[in-house]
Formats: sequence, C-alpha cells, structure tokens
Amino acid sequence: MKKIVIALDGYSSCGKSTTAKLVAADLGYAYIDTGAMYRAVTLYFLEHHVSLTNPREIREALDSIDVEFHYNPKKKRNEVYLNGLNVEDEIRKMYVSNQVSEVSVIPEVRRAMVAQQQKMGKKRGVVMDGRDIGTAVFPDAEVKVFMTADVETRTKRRQVELLEKKQLVNLDEIRDNLLKRDLIDSTRAESPLRQAEDAHLLDTTHMTIDEQVDFVLERVTSQLLKN
Ligand code: DC
Repeated sequence: MKKIVIALDGYSSCGKSTTAKLVAADLGYAYIDTGAMYRAVTLYFLEHHVSLTNPREIREALDSIDVEFHYNPKKKRNEVYLNGLNVEDEIRKMYVSNQVSEVSVIPEVRRAMVAQQQKMGKKRGVVMDGRDIGTAVFPDAEVKVFMTADVETRTKRRQVELLEKKQLVNLDEIRDNLLKRDLIDSTRAESPLRQAEDAHLLDTTHMTIDEQVDFVLERVTSQLLKN
C-alpha cells in the first residue's frame, strides 16, 4: 500500500506526541518527534553556553551537533540521542522547556532541523509532530492535522506527564511556560506555528486519546482510499 506523510502540528501539550505515537504504531510507520530535536539542540546550547545572538557560535555549534533517534525495545519507543548520548529524559526537564522556544526561532537552527526532518521522511511512511510540519517541512503531506486544546486542560495534562517522570512542577509555572512558548512559536519570523490551509482542526479539550487517534486514522483511511 502507498505510504504517506502524516503531519501533526499544534500548540504545546495538546496531545500531539501521544496521538502521533499511536497512529504510527497502528500503521507500522516511523514516528518522528521534531520537538525532541529542537530540545536536544537547546540542551547542547545550554551545556556549551552558546550565545543565541552570535551567528558564528551558532554555526559552529550546529556543525558539532548530531541528533538521532534510536528505538528502545524495552520501553517500546524512539529515544533521542545527542552526539551519541541518550538525552531522552534530560530534554523534557523544565530548564530545557524554558529555553527551547528562544533557540527554535533562530533561522540557522530551523534550517538545519528542517533539512534533517525532510531527509528522515523522504521515503514517506512517517508520522511527524511539531509546529511547522504541514507548512514548512512537508507542505505536501497527504494528511495534516492541527491540534489545539484549552490552556487549563493542557496545563493539567502536562503536570501529569511531568509527575510520571517524577518532576513536581506547579500549575502556574507550567501554564506560564506553555503560554510563553505558544506566543514565541506562533509569532516568530521563520516558519511560525499556524494551521495549514488544508489541515483538519482537532480540538482535544474534551477528547480521549482513543478518540484523537481515531480522528487521525479516519483521515488517513479516506486519504488512502482516494488513491
Ligand atoms: O513539541 P515540544 O513541546 O516538545 O517542542 C518543544 C519546542 O520546540 C516548541 O516550543 C517549539 C519548538 N519546535 C519548533 O519550533 N518546531 C517544531 N517542528 C517542533 C518544535
């Protein structure tokens, strides 16, 4: 059967990655969490004190960064590696979340990540989640979904996710971080977060994960039946 690209974009913490993972597993597709790539670059920038306003330092840093995904069969998930080191847990911490949008606005960073993501999806058969997949990375994705949810729902979901990782963060700090990232992500000059014209809007505020997955799979099925 023909393999397609499925682009899931949207605001922070509205269930994109959980939905994307399950859709990919159902279809036997690869799942690529592009946010993890920006988080890994941010971790490197923080660890190496890269100045966000010095183009030379940024270029040198990008030349020294290798971001890859490796499947962990025990945890049944793809995990992100930065220069050969597993950083899957580290990149989810609040100090990285607090910087990632500032790093993601840098045009050189975006160009490097977008090129790598296009390579990863070249053979199609991928579910990619992020902010600009349907608009910049794969404008020709066969199925595009733009996800949103109200901010209180997203804040509470994020707190549960962090608690599962044994990180205790209060709701105010999480809400501030989500709103700040939404603002930076949607107002940056290069490939801002926005709904592609041909994307289906999915508001997950009152939806279960199963309903979200079904929504995407139904669009995939009707797309595949068209061909
Ligand atoms: O999906 P996430 O919350 O882990 O993403 C972290 C940040 O990375 C997000 O606030 C903005 C940035 N990002 C981006 O600019 N473009 C993408 N395609 C994915 C993420």
